[in-house]
Parts: sequence; C-alpha cells; structure tokens
Amino acid sequence: MNKINIHQKEFEILLENETICKRTRLIGIQLNVDYEGRCPIFIGVLNGSFLFMADLLKEVELDCEIGFIRVASYQGTTSSGEIKETFGLPEDLAGKDVIIVEDIVDTGLTLQYILEKVKAQNPASINVCSLLFKPAALLSPIKELTYVGFEIPNEFVVGYGLDYDGLGRNLKDIYRAI
Ligand code: IMP
Repeated sequence: MNKINIHQKEFEILLENETICKRTRLIGIQLNVDYEGRCPIFIGVLNGSFLFMADLLKEVELDCEIGFIRVASYQGTTSSGEIKETFGLPEDLAGKDVIIVEDIVDTGLTLQYILEKVKAQNPASINVCSLLFKPAALLSPIKELTYVGFEIPNEFVVGYGLDYDGLGRNLKDIYRAI
C-alpha cells in the first residue's frame, strides 16, 4: 500500500517496515555494545513507542529493566505545546542507567519534560533513543538524544505506533501526510 486515507486525509509511504526493522536491529547492536556489563532501565513513552519498544527490546541482549511513562502533548496534527502527564515514571531510578525510548522527537517539549523528571531522581546516566527525529522542528538542543533511527523532514507522519487523531498506530509502515 503506497497511499492510505485516515480521517479523510491522504498519506504516502515514507518508511517500510523492513527498513524500520533493519535500523532497529542496528540500534539494538549498538546498545548491546555501549551498555555491556550494565543493567539499564528502558522507559518507553506511551502510546507512540509501543511497537518500537517491543521490536527494539527483542534485539537487546543485556540484563535490563523495562518501564513506561504516558504523556500527551498533541491534538490533531499540531503540537498543543502543553504536556500532560497521565501516568508517571518508575520511582526508583536513583543510580540507574536510564534509556528513554521515544517514537518521535518533534519540538522536543515532551522529551525535555520527561528528562527533567528523570534527572530529579539522580540516575547514574540518561540517554534517549528515538525512532524518528524532526531536526527542523526541535526548539532547543537535547544532548541526551544519542540514538536516532531516522531523521525526517518536518512533516506529519503516521503508523508504526504513531497516530493521527487516534488512528493509524497499528500500521506496520510509516506514512507522511500529503
Ligand atoms: P514533541 O513534544 O513536539 O517533541 O512531540 C512529541 C510527541 O508528539 C510524540 O511522542 C508523538 O506522540 C507526537 N508527535 C510528534 N510529531 C508527530 C507526528 O508527525 N505524527 C504523530 N505524532 C507526532
């Protein structure tokens, strides 16, 4: 399927599942090397990261813990700029190696909010692993953004965990709005 419709809006293919999986495998290998001998905690940002988190963690061969945080900042296709935490972080991050797993970094506001919360718990280290990154939309640099699957143009995307007004998260490929 090269073109799809969601809520009467047209989207075209941007990244096929096979491409996503290949890149995810490489990030997993990198994490296995970088965190060798450590036991990091992966924290997935819901809802969007659920597929990436699952596929990524299947490539990780380290002893590791897994947690989730849920935040919301979007309505429709534009950022509301307002972050609402709907359920919180694990509360025992002190001294741990934390890896935040995101679906996409757009303005970076969500990530900055989460990073503040994580830092307040004095972890040993924090890195961010995001499947997608829109550099042109980023409001201020985020030094913890160490692992990026794909840099994409500043366009609205859907699929592989990402939604358009609630739909499209189950698509196995990623599509961009046209
Ligand atoms: P940020 O706070 O602007 O970086 O936005 C981060 C969150 O907004 C992501 O975790 C997504 O849930 C959502 N988001 C940002 N860009 C898109 C997009 O192109 N499609 C779908 N959701 C998006």
